[in-house]
Amino acid sequence: MKIERLKLTNFRNYANLELEFNPKINIFIGDNGQGKTNILESIYILSLTKTNRQCQEDELIKFNEEITMIEGIIKNDTLIKKKKVAISKKKKQLFINNKEIHRNRDYIKDFSIISFTPNDLEIVKGSPNIRRNMMNIDISQLHNNYITFLNEYNKIIKIRNDYLKKMNLNGNSDIRYLEVVNKSLIEKATKIYEYRFSFIEKINEYLPIIYKKITGLSNLHIEFNNSIGLEKFDSFEIENVFQKKLKKNFNAELMQGMTLTGPHRDDFSFILNDMDMKSYASQGQQRMAVIALKISEIYLFKEILGEFPVLLLDDIFSEIDMKKRNKIIKFFKDDIQIIITTTDINDINNELLKNSVIYTVKNSKLTRKGRIKYGRE
Ligand SMILES: Nc1ncnc2c1ncn2[C@@H]1O[C@H](COP(=O)(O)OP(=O)(O)O)[C@@H](O)[C@H]1O
Ligand SMILES: [Mg+2]
Repeated sequence: MKIERLKLTNFRNYANLELEFNPKINIFIGDNGQGKTNILESIYILSLTKTNRQCQEDELIKFNEEITMIEGIIKNDTLIKKKKVAISKKKKQLFINNKEIHRNRDYIKDFSIISFTPNDLEIVKGSPNIRRNMMNIDISQLHNNYITFLNEYNKIIKIRNDYLKKMNLNGNSDIRYLEVVNKSLIEKATKIYEYRFSFIEKINEYLPIIYKKITGLSNLHIEFNNSIGLEKFDSFEIENVFQKKLKKNFNAELMQGMTLTGPHRDDFSFILNDMDMKSYASQGQQRMAVIALKISEIYLFKEILGEFPVLLLDDIFSEIDMKKRNKIIKFFKDDIQIIITTTDINDINNELLKNSVIYTVKNSKLTRKGRIKYGRE
């Protein structure tokens, strides 16, 4: 999967920008605040419709403008598509080949990305919702129906919480209605668990090997701390344990007007030699764990989708020593398109430079060095 062209209109600091990408390595070099990350962010949005930065959606629109548009030409082995996201202060629209697409799941297929930014250290250290969010985004890219299941699940959680609040307020207790809602809750949750267990299991087929190759340390894996407390997927057990928990927590749920069990309470942790890296690992080890996770995902995407995702790397090499950089880039196979930002060209290995096109980014202006090579020249 490759992005061939990008066109930005009133996106952040870019009034009008048109860019052509190299099928292999693309490097954006420039001082801070020049607009490097904005380019990666726009590609992220073009793929997933949402930003990966902590901000309001209308902050994406260039100051004093009303609407921003991100357009791109995406190519894979079998097709070529024009994708477009238009965001105004009032609404967001998605287009494929100039036709408006109304469902997210229909829009996001055919262009998958893996992004790595310095903020992603939070995947190890941060709060559970960061990990759930990451897992949801990645499974959505791998399995088209997952978003639908997730939306249905969130809807039922809202219905259930509203009803719990109502029951608590009125002292009214139509337990039979709650039982119907519970049944539906468990059914939707089971679907989500099926995908999440399988995702984590698959990641664990790659993660320890990759982490060991980069760091020399053995025995890294991720542990799925699901809210049901199960070790492996078993729909019968999920129903069983879920029902028990709902019974046990009933009073607490009523008091709080909140559903206390289910995928919205899941988490996972990075375990290195039986210890949770969140509390025991150094910053460097945590960073390598996230890198190993991202590389695992690249290979998992290839395994499931048949093609590598586009890799977006936001200034990640500066904090990594040359020895590890060399080990990391061994995983970047020739047919992966990579888009990298950096403030210092010395942070980029010669191996990557060889296959690259370099853009200098200065004050919203881009200058290209190098020729874009299509196909296998
Ligand atoms: N909505 C916006 N309109 C205009 N400029 C913006 C907007 N949002 C961010 N910027 C500008 O983008 C620049 C930061 O770009 P960024 O891509 O993060 O830089 P870097 O090259 O350091 O990665 C800043 O100069 C900031 O003022
Ligand atoms: Mg930046």
